[in-house]
Amino acid sequence: MTELIEVRANGLSGSEAFVSDLRVSVGQTVAPSAVLVGIELGKAAVEIEAPAAGRVARVLVAVNDAVKDGDLLVVLERAESVQSASASPGPSSAPSVEHVPRVADTSSAASGGHVPNPDFHASPSIRRLARERGLDLSQIAGTGRHGRIVAEDLARPVPAAAQSQSHLGLAAALQLDSALALQGPDESRPLSLLQRAVGRTVTQTWTQVPHVTQFDETDITELEAFRVALNRERGQEELKLTLLPFVVKAVAAALSAFPVFNASLLKDALVLKSSVHVGFAVDTEEGLRVPVIHHANRLSLRQIALEIARLADRARASKLAPDDVQGGSFTISNLGGAGGTAFTPIINAPELAILGLSKATLKPVWNGSAFVPRLMLPLSLSYDHRVINGVAGARFVSHLGAVLCDLRRALL
Ligand code: COA
Repeated sequence: MTELIEVRANGLSGSEAFVSDLRVSVGQTVAPSAVLVGIELGKAAVEIEAPAAGRVARVLVAVNDAVKDGDLLVVLERAESVQSASASPGPSSAPSVEHVPRVADTSSAASGGHVPNPDFHASPSIRRLARERGLDLSQIAGTGRHGRIVAEDLARPVPAAAQSQSHLGLAAALQLDSALALQGPDESRPLSLLQRAVGRTVTQTWTQVPHVTQFDETDITELEAFRVALNRERGQEELKLTLLPFVVKAVAAALSAFPVFNASLLKDALVLKSSVHVGFAVDTEEGLRVPVIHHANRLSLRQIALEIARLADRARASKLAPDDVQGGSFTISNLGGAGGTAFTPIINAPELAILGLSKATLKPVWNGSAFVPRLMLPLSLSYDHRVINGVAGARFVSHLGAVLCDLRRALL
């Protein structure tokens, strides 16, 4: 008797999501934890894995299909049932992939007898690394859990067959083209799943939402002195307070004073959020991720700093849970570490505004009688002009600047 396993979408929490990557087809066998379907939601990507080994009996979605929690994606026949069924005449259309040894069979790797395995398991970062090194992962035996290919497997010497066929094919094609051969082969770097997801989202937002960006700068000389003093007081063991937690705190206060910046536009209604959930952009190897500090207005500076550190670590390790990236009501993008004086951040829709921070620098500021050196932080606020007008945008930035200049205003 064939046991069927239904694999459904989960962890999407009502967010708009769609299938971005379909890794399996009917008849293919998969190992436990093999990635079956990639799903994009906002600026995040979720991978749906096989709960057990088996053969793909049905695929119910296609790339670009919209999906929501609970939708049936794939039906698997459990591995044991597949084996017993194979004694009797089975479906003749099953592809040969079924008979390929699992990647987990490291004995073949040890003996150097590699057999192509198109059903390999590897995280997005490993896939990216392999692409960069021109390696064909289907030729590499994985030594991780359930045969997953890990970084060490890429470091091992691999036979010539593991050089990516597409890489070699590209080089061969380029040799035929004398003009290109003269220039040498260009490097083609396929975008990661996350980069494609973010690309699609920002294109949609940039083309559908009329953005206006308000630029300003604020004096954070006192704030910086306070931050340095706090860090000295707290000692080496405590987590260091960077500028960002202070900005989150000030933003949370400004959002309470200007609720229209903590809202979404749904059809023709403005939905003012009762909670303040502040997202922040994190630059990772895979691309941009935006984890969310939930209830930022209720957290202390220390709690905000801990949350930023926890979420940034998870983002960089590609371990953000769906809950970590959902529910944001306003976003901050801090480019202070990268330099520049201003930029136009793209709104993280359906939010209505995003704050960009550039690098704070010392500037001569006229105090009425003399120029004095002050640490000035550039602020770039992009907002949705369908809902927020220019005066409101300027007032919000000016209020935020005043709070950052004197944090006591956050108490008001
Ligand atoms: N101006 C001047 N100094 C700044 C600054 C700014 N705008 N922002 C941070 N700093 C300072 C910090 O206070 C800290 O100073 P210290 O070493 O004296 O304590 C130092 O720079 C390092 O801070 P950082 O490690 O960057 O911490 P953070 O909490 O400010 O930022 C992240 C954390 C996760 C946001 C950051 O590491 C990151 O990934 N930024 C990229 C965001 C991004 O990609 N945006 C683009 C989206 S399109």
